Amino acid sequence: MLKSKTAHGVHSPFVYKFVTELLETKNEAYYQFKELDAVRKQLLNNHNTIEITDFGAGSKVFKSNTRKISDIARHGISTKKFSELYFKLINFCNAEHVVELGTSIGLNTLYLANANSKSKIYTIEGCPALYEFSSQLFKKHNAENIKSLQGNFDSVLPELLNNLPRLDFFYVDGNHQYEATKKYFEMALTKKHEHSVFIFDDINWTEDMQRAWEEIKNHLEVTLSLDLFYAGIVFFRKEQKEKEHFILRY
Ligand SMILES: C[S@@+](CC[C@H](N)C(=O)[O-])C[C@H]1O[C@@H](n2cnc3c(N)ncnc32)[C@H](O)[C@@H]1O
Repeated sequence: MLKSKTAHGVHSPFVYKFVTELLETKNEAYYQFKELDAVRKQLLNNHNTIEITDFGAGSKVFKSNTRKISDIARHGISTKKFSELYFKLINFCNAEHVVELGTSIGLNTLYLANANSKSKIYTIEGCPALYEFSSQLFKKHNAENIKSLQGNFDSVLPELLNNLPRLDFFYVDGNHQYEATKKYFEMALTKKHEHSVFIFDDINWTEDMQRAWEEIKNHLEVTLSLDLFYAGIVFFRKEQKEKEHFILRY
C-alpha cells in the first residue's frame, strides 16, 4: 500500500493524473462553485426546523429528530472540499449515469448535477421531509437533470438499477452499516463498467465501516482504490495490471 501526500512518488499514471488534476488544482476556475457557495450560505442561515425520519445508521451528532436546516448544513452533509471534488470527478470521468444514496438537504446533489449538463443524477432519500425539502431546492435552482426518488435504498436502488443502461458514478452516503454498504456495492456491480467510479463516504466512521471498505477495495473486480480517509473511491480500470491501494491525505 502506498501512502502519498502529493503526486510525487505516485507511480500509477492514472492516479498521478487524479492527484494533479483533481486534488491539487485550484477551484477558482469553476464559476459554478461561487453559486454553490451562495446556496450553502443560504442553507447555513436557514434556521427553520424539519422532522427527520431516521432510515439509516443514525447520527453521532444529532440527538433529536427535530433539526434545523442550518445544523444539517453544518454537520450532516458533505463538506465543500469533498462536494467540489465529486463535481470535478464527474467531469474528469465524463459520467452520465450518476446515482447518489442519501440526498439529505440536496446541496451535494446540486454539485453533482452542475458538473456535466449531459448527466442524469438519480438521488435517493428515505426521509419524507428531507425528500420534500431537497425537491424544492432542485426546483428553485432549475436542476432539471436531477431525478429524486423517495424510499428505502434497499428497495429503490435495485429497481432504479434495473432501469439504467449502466452506472458511471455511484456515491454511497447513507446507512453506514457493514451489511448495507456491502449489499449496495454488490447491487451496483451489476451495472458497472471499466470506467465506473464508486465512492463510499465515512469509511472510517466505525469499525464496521472500516471492515466494509477493506472488503470492497479487495473485491476481485476492483483494480484500484483511493483512501481519502473521509471517503474511499474504487475503480475497475483494466489498464491497471496489478491491484493497487493508495492512501491520499486530502
Ligand atoms: C449523510 S446524509 C447524505 C448527505 C449528502 N449525500 C451529502 O453529500 O451532503 C445521509 C442521508 O441518507 C438517508 N438514508 C440513510 N439510510 C437510508 C436508507 N436505508 N434508505 C433511504 N435513505 C436513507 C438519511 O435520511 C440521510 O438524509
